[in-house]
Amino acid sequence: MTSNKIRLNKYLAECGIDSRRKVEELISQGRVIVNGEVINDFSFKVDAAEDKVLLDGEPIRLQKKVYYLLNKPKGYVTTTSDEKNRKTVMELVRSDLKIFPVGRLDFNTTGLLLLTNDGDFTNLLLHPNNKVPRIYRVALDKMLDEKDRLVLIKGIMLEGKKGRFEDVRYKDLKMKKQVTIKTVEGRNHFVKNMFKVLGYKVTSLSRIKFAGLSLGDLPIGAYRELTKDEIKGILKKNV
Ligand code: URA
Repeated sequence: MTSNKIRLNKYLAECGIDSRRKVEELISQGRVIVNGEVINDFSFKVDAAEDKVLLDGEPIRLQKKVYYLLNKPKGYVTTTSDEKNRKTVMELVRSDLKIFPVGRLDFNTTGLLLLTNDGDFTNLLLHPNNKVPRIYRVALDKMLDEKDRLVLIKGIMLEGKKGRFEDVRYKDLKMKKQVTIKTVEGRNHFVKNMFKVLGYKVTSLSRIKFAGLSLGDLPIGAYRELTKDEIKGILKKNV
């Protein structure tokens, strides 16, 4: 007989609670109860049909999966809540389901941000091994030297680990303060920190592409659902 049991971390991610990494934090914090017992072990196996799983005392149920693409404005944090009471991107997307942002953009970064309740989809997009491409439009405080442009492509040490951009292009050769960069890195503040190492300050940052998706003519602050083909395309490319 085949078993319907799956690991607790995978189950919670599939139910749309959060990404695999984030649900592991919830499990470690003792917030997950299976059949009346607090479970701290991510690899504990649950049977979705039989077992009663609670998060913070509330029953977990499988949810329909939803996928949104938002053009994030400045002045919003990309978390589901904020301890400093700043506005969060959750205020911009209407959904009855428990969605969360796929990764993060800084408070003043604008542009393409995905939100979903699909933890596995989120994992695929954020896992460093999958090298998902991100394209940013960057404005700098001074013109980018050709020598430094090449250094950024070759790679530099950043917080003990090599970081590089796949590509760095000037907007035009007379406007060397504005560049477009491509990277497969998702470390926090990665773009700003890469430029900082070489003595440049990023004065404005916008993500224009992520995982092959573009903003198109979506106005700032607006969002749309991903199409079935876009979702399939991402899942196919990354499995
Ligand atoms: N890199 C940054 O420095 N900030 C962002 O918001 C995204 C990438």
